Amino acid sequence: MNIEKLAYIETFGCQMNERDSEIMGQMLGNLHYSPTTDMKQADVIVINTCSIRDKAEQKVYSLLGRLKKLKKKKPSLIISVAGCVAQQEGKRLQDRMEHVDIVIGPQQIYRLPELVSKAAQKGKLQMAVELSAGFVIPRYSPPSPAGISYKSEKVASSPAFKKFVTIMQGCNNFCTYCVVPYTRGRETSRVAEDIIAEISNLAEQGVREVTLLGQNVNSYGKISDGSLQHISFPELLKRVSTIDGIKRIRFTTSHPKDLSAELIECFATIEKLCPHFHLPVQSGSNRILKKMNRKYTIEKYLDRVASLRKVRPDISLTTDIIVGFPGETDEDFQATLQLLDRVRYHGAFSFKYSDRPQTKAIAFDDKVEEQVKSERLRILQERQNDICLQRNREYEGSVQLVMVEGESKNAAGQWSGRTMSNIIVNFDSPALSPGREVHVKITEGLLHSLRGVMI
Ligand code: SAH
Ligand code: SF4
Ligand code: F3S
Repeated sequence: MNIEKLAYIETFGCQMNERDSEIMGQMLGNLHYSPTTDMKQADVIVINTCSIRDKAEQKVYSLLGRLKKLKKKKPSLIISVAGCVAQQEGKRLQDRMEHVDIVIGPQQIYRLPELVSKAAQKGKLQMAVELSAGFVIPRYSPPSPAGISYKSEKVASSPAFKKFVTIMQGCNNFCTYCVVPYTRGRETSRVAEDIIAEISNLAEQGVREVTLLGQNVNSYGKISDGSLQHISFPELLKRVSTIDGIKRIRFTTSHPKDLSAELIECFATIEKLCPHFHLPVQSGSNRILKKMNRKYTIEKYLDRVASLRKVRPDISLTTDIIVGFPGETDEDFQATLQLLDRVRYHGAFSFKYSDRPQTKAIAFDDKVEEQVKSERLRILQERQNDICLQRNREYEGSVQLVMVEGESKNAAGQWSGRTMSNIIVNFDSPALSPGREVHVKITEGLLHSLRGVMI
């Protein structure tokens, strides 16, 4: 008889959530739960949620609705809701969805094993949603051996040779549209020693690429516990670059207002630092940026873009844009389109503004009509697609150092990897091991990827 206990984790939202899910998976592993990708088989289900837009939140409720039947069939099933919706809703979640057993906020994920055991014994709601300003990110144990990962249907964990490493949590910026400062709490950085130890350990297990994660990595170093050591983000990057085995370093996300000259300089001096920068601009209009509380002007933003390109002409830039922020006029929107033409981003994530609980913008009374938002989004995405295609065509004829990710999903016998600048490349080659770096001559630039031949 099979008495193995199984855990299913589904992740919504950003890379921080992906990393948190991995940590929760490891902790459940220590409780002797094995991962499953079939939620019907699971004894514990963890939904790690995102609240960034209303749509993201609705997805959580629709999934939870579907879980009701499972719980009826198997009353011992433990359903946990983690992440930003859990933090935002707290007890209200169970009022709405009685079959939820655990509600656990982003700062409390380390208590998951304890809450799972309590829920199994007592069968009543277990809640951990405290959000403390003095929160210190725990020194969690090294990850399980590369290769063991919890995969959800929606978001696959990162492959074994590349990993996310959380270096800070929370956000103090309070952009007027954003829920993150309320769901993730105050900004706090991990001690450098813990980060270095974690990455060294990953490197020993064969990891070749790390992405350092935080809501605003540029302000890394402000640790809430005064007794801990402070170093700046550029200093941290330098230390990470000395770890043997790590070949590529990436980071995300940065706030343009805190982008320092020292960080820009790192792109000239740290060879392992990948020439890709995700620099969310949100809008091309100074008036809207001010209403968003972004604390920079387009002129300052463009100045930083120019500095980055001066030190690394091959740097690829990507961004986030919100259309239809309250009060956005046609003129403001045109300014955003102009910005796309000026910067010519290699990629952009764009969203319709969505009201979020607790934020300032929810009370702004000059909301843009849904239809106008949709139309602006369509126009913006069309324009950006043209630029993406042009940008990718600029790679044609060049030779790129590509880190192999695995077999291409598109065509048999093809392999897939990424350039240093983070563009996907598909190419013909005999079997290759993931994590290896090869030279590929680019033959064609497409909308979302490049095609090439290995040389
Ligand atoms: N910390 C990052 C972004 C985190 S959220 C930063 O500061 O840039 C990711 C993106 O979601 C944001 O950049 C923004 O473009 C978008 N976003 C956040 N709140 C939103 C809202 N209320 N409506 C629509 N998009 C939103
Ligand atoms: Fe949200 Fe602004 Fe903080 Fe980014 S910087 S997480 S957009 S409040
Ligand atoms: Fe979503 Fe929370 Fe990340 S709201 S984007 S999961 S920080």
